[in-house]
Amino acid sequence: MFTSVKHATCMMERMLTNTSSELSRSWIAVAHSDELGDEPLQTWVLGEPWVIVRLNGEIRAFTDRCPHRLAPLSAGKVVDGELQCGYHGWRFGHDGMATSIPALGPAATLPQRACLSPAAAVAEHLGLIWLAPRTPLAPLPQLPGWNEDGYVSATCETVRTPVSAVQLIDNFMDAAHFPFVHPTSFGVEDAFDVSSDEIVSGGWLVTSTFTAPYQHHDDPLVDTGEHPLIQEHTVTKIGFAGCNAGLELRFPLTQGVFGIVYACQPETATSTRVFKVMARNDLDEAGMERCVKDEDAILQEDLKILERYTIMALETDLTVEVHIKADRLSVAWRRLMKGLETA
Ligand code: FES
Ligand SMILES: [Fe+2]
Repeated sequence: MFTSVKHATCMMERMLTNTSSELSRSWIAVAHSDELGDEPLQTWVLGEPWVIVRLNGEIRAFTDRCPHRLAPLSAGKVVDGELQCGYHGWRFGHDGMATSIPALGPAATLPQRACLSPAAAVAEHLGLIWLAPRTPLAPLPQLPGWNEDGYVSATCETVRTPVSAVQLIDNFMDAAHFPFVHPTSFGVEDAFDVSSDEIVSGGWLVTSTFTAPYQHHDDPLVDTGEHPLIQEHTVTKIGFAGCNAGLELRFPLTQGVFGIVYACQPETATSTRVFKVMARNDLDEAGMERCVKDEDAILQEDLKILERYTIMALETDLTVEVHIKADRLSVAWRRLMKGLETA
């Protein structure tokens, strides 16, 4: 049986999607730091184009429309620390106010409305550029060990998918799928009983910590037979109100710490970019390279099922889906997301 267009449209209206305005009150990763050079760069958030640019070393983000004839400012350039529109040469300072309109001459009084719309907040953090269209409620996700001595940091391949950003975060929060979606990579058959874990909500994030068995392929003492392949580890998952999540794995046997920040950029109704940054203290550079490949493969395992959905949206009405105890973290995070509607 397939979903009729009318039914699907109806469902989409009350679900969170990549263009839901509720998500504008959150930090959204929009580019790798090294994607943004000296010229302005276009990036998409919630179906709207934005321009990000470095002006005198400071990152700024504006909606990508010139107030004159709505040309994309990302087609312009940076001149003397200001953003110049490529169409008629209007220039804008770091606060978005016009500083020069060539067609009016140098002594002109500039129209008050000749200004850009800036993002409420911009940050460069974990090698990524982030923006919040409106004042963000949840904080930026932290990654202990990032670029610190004793840790190796890395960034996974950036992937583009039609799966909505909120579905990707929901999947990241879900542990019960591990043995079925990731049976050979890391999933362990009896690892999914997370029904009694404590979940803490507050400050626009939810946190859950639990212990579970794990296939520890990265432990070199597994090959020598000194350590078992399946080891207990402690998992801390954090879901932020928005499209970001954090994960920390602690391995008591090796004293290893492995942290991940997972950030999904809702670009348009049909496109999401997935950023994943990691830091861990138990691998050298070569080991981390392998880890990146493994994590890239794990994401593909998730996408294999997520991309089969016919509706790319997250249900926040808790009466629609059947929830069980093992879904407690997912449910707590959905409540948080539901809260965005009225925040
Ligand atoms: S459209 Fe930008 S200066 Fe005219
Ligand atoms: Fe997964």
